[in-house]
Order: sequence, then structure tokens, then C-alpha cells
Amino acid sequence: MCGIVGYLGKNQASSILVDGLSKLEYRGYDSAGVAILNDEGLMNVTKCKGRLANLEEKLKENPIHGTVGIGHTRWATHGEPSDVNSHPHTNEKGTIAVVHNGIIENYMKLREWLTSEGYTFKSETDTEVIPHLVDYFYNGDIVEAVMKAVTKMEGSYAIGVVSTYEPGKLVAVRKDSPLIVGLGKDEYFIASDIPAVLNHTRDVYLLEDKEFVVIDEKGVTLLDTVGREINKDVFHVTWDANAAEKGGYEHFMLKEIHEQPKAIRDTMTSRIVKNEKIKLDDITITQEQIKNIDKIYIVACGTAYHAGVIGKYAIEKLARIPVEVEVASEFRYRNPIINEKTLMIVVSQSGETADTLAALREAKRQKARVIAVTNVVGSSISREADDVLYTWAGPEIAVASTKAYVTQLIAMYIIALFFAENKGTLSNEEIEEIKEEMLLLPEKAEKVLETKVVVEKFAANNYMHRDMFFLGRGLDYAVAMEGSLKLKEISYIHSEAYAAGELKHGPIALIEDGTVVIALATQEVLFEKMVSNIKEVKTRGANVLAFAMEGHNEIEKTVDVARYIPRTLEVLAPVLSVIPLQLLSYYTAIAKGCDVDKPRNLAKSVTVE
Ligand code: F6R
Repeated sequence: MCGIVGYLGKNQASSILVDGLSKLEYRGYDSAGVAILNDEGLMNVTKCKGRLANLEEKLKENPIHGTVGIGHTRWATHGEPSDVNSHPHTNEKGTIAVVHNGIIENYMKLREWLTSEGYTFKSETDTEVIPHLVDYFYNGDIVEAVMKAVTKMEGSYAIGVVSTYEPGKLVAVRKDSPLIVGLGKDEYFIASDIPAVLNHTRDVYLLEDKEFVVIDEKGVTLLDTVGREINKDVFHVTWDANAAEKGGYEHFMLKEIHEQPKAIRDTMTSRIVKNEKIKLDDITITQEQIKNIDKIYIVACGTAYHAGVIGKYAIEKLARIPVEVEVASEFRYRNPIINEKTLMIVVSQSGETADTLAALREAKRQKARVIAVTNVVGSSISREADDVLYTWAGPEIAVASTKAYVTQLIAMYIIALFFAENKGTLSNEEIEEIKEEMLLLPEKAEKVLETKVVVEKFAANNYMHRDMFFLGRGLDYAVAMEGSLKLKEISYIHSEAYAAGELKHGPIALIEDGTVVIALATQEVLFEKMVSNIKEVKTRGANVLAFAMEGHNEIEKTVDVARYIPRTLEVLAPVLSVIPLQLLSYYTAIAKGCDVDKPRNLAKSVTVE
């Protein structure tokens, strides 16, 4: 998400910045811009909503000559995609320009404080606080001003700064957001990813958190937080540009599976904070309106629908409001009972799915309130809903949804807790316990990614099967549905997900010697019952791969291969248990030689009925 490029050298910055940004297009973006110090040392900013081609067009009409500059492609998080919200952002005098990736968590507080100091803001972004902060601290030394500004910023950032005060300088720093420095011959670059500089150099510095970069005509100096110089090894890039775009992963899907710990963390950022009430900036529903809700419909398609099924469990369990989950294409044509006491939650990664949008419009027509859970700021669904809760997964490129799904689960838990808090259905202690466990999920998700080797081996031994079954009870059944969909989508293997207790009512007839069954047994209270269901398929010859919570090793006596997910609250287990299923579908598709990122017949955004 978002791309940064910066240049200082002897050539014209404009075309180099645009070319670099084009190499970061894979990260997804909705607007683009550059700030270039022209030959007189004056700041020129050109930026606009839309594709890079729009920016190029503008730069063609009004060329900027200058050899120092910063550029940015923005993926909106705070504030819709628009010309004014695009980066670079400047201070009021237009003397300091900043590009930023990441999220400044305390931007509201900083904005209030800076406003009280007389600063005015033009955009809705969190980023705009940065040039004002640098301006506030500027006292004749731009590097010192950036360093002081950074001490006030909480959250994640990679920033690039240029200023008319010292036009021969480019300053940058990162924390929890990637940034590299490209080392050319008499020219230097900053970029959020290596492909942006590969046309010019293969020698880079890979920055660590809180390392400051100062570039001037003499070269690159790296400083720590107190201004001491740091020595760093030059990293020589040997990969080709394609591999670099995928961060070294073979496919976007695998990269996105590995980005899940970060996506989970980002989606909780500033919303789930220990001993503080849940904060949902973009949700205006009042406590009274929440207390008045007598029914919730969660409406979505595909993977987002599966997230909705988990949402039903979570909201009913924690907030005690009845929830129905429906596939959007069915909902819109069945004349559902809706009134002003109904709340609809629509879930959509793209925010553009035609059926989900139509269901939202139908609910609004019948006076229901609609909350949207979406990953795309400014999407149709986000604009038409009454309230929006953004999943901060970053752009998802692979057609098969992975990181968007886990962030949708997090959004469901956040909504459930928010309602529980407002309705008083849980005590403070119970809410705090769930929040604490949620905050541990990113680290536990990292651990689950380590199951990859076992899952890859299982896939290599079983990819030739024509059918597979996914079984689970309760929340595990909901995750089984998602695992089954992933497998179908990218490996083209027929698969079915069943509620394990339903087996003996028909589907068990399909189990025969060698049938592959993936069993989920993460729900403590249902564990024994699930083991009995697994025995039912085992005795009929099934080959079973099972996932349980740590500590339930007794499952090994019943199944062929068992893996464990770290202990967490049962209601949160889906965030972890879905990961091995995503990996299973990935490695099965690889073993079959399928086109993982672009499976046949599927589109990323389904804007037709
Ligand atoms: C599955 C997948 C689809 C989408 C569905 C809804 O991997 O990607 O099933 O989940 O088309 O899309 P959104 O969430 O964009 O509404």
C-alpha cells in the first residue's frame, strides 16, 4: 500500500519519480503526486486522484524542471481518494513537502494541538500533520526538525521530506513501514520497494526502524535517533524486477498470506487499546440506536460472506443481538423483512461488488441503517453506507482473498465488542480479556505461518485427488467453508465443507478409502464431539489432516497428520486456523501447476450481477 520514491542527482527528477512510481503500481493506489524543487529552489507540487497517467498528463502540460524531488502513490486510509488528500502534503507556506506511507495513530491529537498553535489543515489525512510538525520544529536545520517531528509521531511511517530552506537535501526515515535507499553514480534515491530503483542501481541500503537518511550532493549519510552516524552494508540486488515486486515471494497470494500478521495489527490500530473504550472514528451510530437494534443482517459474497458467518457467531455471543447472514445475490431478491430497527452490515473487500451494493441500497430504501466493512476507501459501498469500518489490509492483488478475510474477521470482533460495550452485555473484565487476546493475534499468526512445511508436504502428497472434504463444528465449520472455497478457487479441486454433526445425515456416504478430509477441532467445548466425527470418517478409510489448539495432542491418536494453532480464546481461533487452510490451497495449486494469482474464470472485483 502506498509507494514512495525520492530522487536527488543531476538528472530531471520528474520523469525519474514517475518511472519509479510506475514500478510500485503493483502495491495498489488511487492517486499520485510529486513535489520537486525547481532550478530556483522553489517548491512545485503536482498531484491528482486516479492513475499515474493522469499525473503524467499534468506534468506534460506544466513541466517542472528540477533535480531534487519526492513522489508518492496513495492508497487511501484516512480521507477519500481526492486531489487534496493526495501526497505530497506541505506546510502552509509551501516550503516543506512530505510523502508518507503508514498510519500516524495519534494524528487526531496532533492535529488538535497544531490547530491550537495556529496551523490550518487542508486535507482529511493523517499525513498532513507531518509537514506542520516539521515546520513547527524548523529552526534553521531541516534534519533536526524532521528528527524532532518524529518524536511526536506514533504509529507506522516511512517518510520523505524536501524543503526550500535547504533545497539540496532530501531527508527520510522509517518505522514499521518499508524504505530503502538506492545508491547510483552521483545520484541517490529513496523508495518503498526495490523495483522503483532497479532501472538506475542495484546497490541499496535496507533501512531499519528509526534510521534517518540525509541525502545531499556529497552522498548519503545515515543517522540514528540522536544524530550519530551509522555504518551500513550495501545490499547488492541480484533478483529480477518481477521477483522484487513480490518481495521475494513466488506469488502475490503467498506474500499476502505472510502479510496477515501486519494486516491484523493495522486493522486493530487505534481501535483496540488496553483499558480504553473501543474507538471507531468513522462510525456515528449512537448508543441509543445500538440498543434499539432488534435484528442484524450481515450480507456479502464469497469469502466476505464467510467472514460474515464468523461475525454472526461473534455478535450473537458477545452482544446478544440476533444476526442473519446472507449471500447478497439471494438477499436482494427475497423480499426480506427490514425496518428502522434493522441494522445491515455489508462486508466487501473491494467495496464494489454489485450484489452487495444492491443489497445495501435495498436496506437503505427500507430505512435500515447500514455499516460497511470494506478495504477500499472511497469505494461505492463505503460512500453509500451510513457508517464505515475500514479493514486496513492494504491492497490485495491475488484474486483469492486471504489478508482481507482475516481483517474482516477482526472488523467483526471489533463491531461485536463495540455493541457489547454499548449494550452492557459483557463486563469490563470480559471485554478487556478479549481485547488482550486480540492484541496477541499478530504474533500468534506469525507462529501459525511456521506450519507451512507440514502443509506443503501434505499438499504434495494429495494434490492429485479429485475431491476433498472440510469438516468442523461451530466456528470451525465457518472456517471450513472458507478453506473449501480457497481450495476450489485456485486448485480447481472439488471440495465440500460440512458441519461435522451433519455428516451422518447423508454426506458420509461419500467417504471411502483414501478420501481426503481436513478437520478443524479448535473449539474446546466441541472438541470431544469433533473427535467422534473424525473417527466416523477414519473408520471409513479417510486420510485426515487435523488442526486443533495447542495442548490437544490426543487428537494424534485419531488422525493421520495433526498440527496445532497457538492457544487463544475460542471465538478468536478462526483468525489463526484459516491460515494453514490458505497455505494448503496455495501449495495444492502449486503442486498442480495452476496459475495461483489469476485463477481461471475469476475476477478480483465482481461489478456485475
Ligand atoms: C474469494 C474471493 C471472492 C470474494 C467475493 C466478494 O477468494 O475473493 O469470493 O470474496 O467476490 O468480493 P468483495 O469482498 O470484494 O465484495
